[in-house]
Amino acid sequence: MIRVNDNFSKLQESYLFSEIARKVKAFEAEHPEASIIRMGIGDVTLPICEASVKAMHKAVDEMGNRATFHGYGPEQGYAFLAECISKYDYAERGIAIATDEIFISDGAKSDTGNIGDILSTDNLVAVTDPVYPVYVDSNVMAGRAGTLTERGTWSNIMYMPCNAENGFIPALPAAIPDMIYLCYPNNPTGTTLTRSQLKAWVDYALENKALLLFDSAYEAFITEDDVPHSIYEIEGARRCAIEFRSFSKTAGFTGLRCGYTVVPKELIGYDSEGRPMMLNKLWNRRQCTKFNGASYVTQRAAEAIYTPEGRTQVREAIAYYLRNALILRSGLAAAGLEAVGGVNAPYVWVKTPRGMTSWEFFAKLLGECHIVGTPGVGFGPSGEGYFRLTAFNTYELTLEAVERIKNFRL
Ligand code: MLT
Repeated sequence: MIRVNDNFSKLQESYLFSEIARKVKAFEAEHPEASIIRMGIGDVTLPICEASVKAMHKAVDEMGNRATFHGYGPEQGYAFLAECISKYDYAERGIAIATDEIFISDGAKSDTGNIGDILSTDNLVAVTDPVYPVYVDSNVMAGRAGTLTERGTWSNIMYMPCNAENGFIPALPAAIPDMIYLCYPNNPTGTTLTRSQLKAWVDYALENKALLLFDSAYEAFITEDDVPHSIYEIEGARRCAIEFRSFSKTAGFTGLRCGYTVVPKELIGYDSEGRPMMLNKLWNRRQCTKFNGASYVTQRAAEAIYTPEGRTQVREAIAYYLRNALILRSGLAAAGLEAVGGVNAPYVWVKTPRGMTSWEFFAKLLGECHIVGTPGVGFGPSGEGYFRLTAFNTYELTLEAVERIKNFRL
């Protein structure tokens, strides 16, 4: 008899974004005439920048030539890309990250989902609420979550509410978790932590020997000076934090797949016998066993975003999405809706009008305005009464979406 991992039967029927895609498909089948504007999943609409496209063409030619062909690459990623990351993403900000602390992968979703492989299933996990569902679901799969409660939360996971009352900034937990997931700029609320707020988390983690799992997939959208781009800008973070980065939102790689994880060598965990272990070594071991590296062509594309042309092109794409975010923010305000985010992030977090639930608002927005967003409650109980819109659609459709919202008197 084949036995399955029981933890999978505890999971909700489907992943949030698959569930939304299913509902939208059903709506489309019933209303083929509707011109739907998609602002649900954070998928980009601009093509990959020219510098990366050129680099990929060249890399494809190399792959087709016996003399320049590349087979299996290093599981940790190619040195040419790790060196760019170390230099441009870190050294330029005054942060020293060695190339063997950088693990290039197929994206932050995989890495944030897989990092638990190297951590004990006895660890107590804390997440913000609302939260990117991958952090929670992957811990359910690993057996760290306990049982699902009536509120839709997990009995063994600590939820740190982020709501209008606390300015969407989670309070430091009184009970001490072992693993703390933080995503800043935040998905889904689009809010940020200032330098001093992030420092409070680093100090807390050091004092309580907790590990911060810091997802900075949206770092490229930061516009304000007081918002750190990397957790390693904060003193002591090398001893308590793993950082995840993604090229998906930075450079439009959602379909190409590339990201990386930084595991500093100072990070130590303990096995059940109390022996110290370097997390860097464990993650390396895990990657060597389960991953064969991102493709050569993809890594050359990622390298190209660090060239002068690549950097300019990427900055232009980010500016394009941030302009959409601004249009959304001001359009929603003009329609009488309250919203946060969108200043340092591609997400706008909207309060549903007249006490509507998140799913009621989802149905109304889809049914009447033909706009797809993401119900806030899908990210956790504190997301109830909220709704997430992304700035990743085109400029024209963002303007159109705002017009529809204003006209439909939601
Ligand atoms: C989102 O919409 O939250 C993200 O695009 C999902 C992801 O990055 O996996």
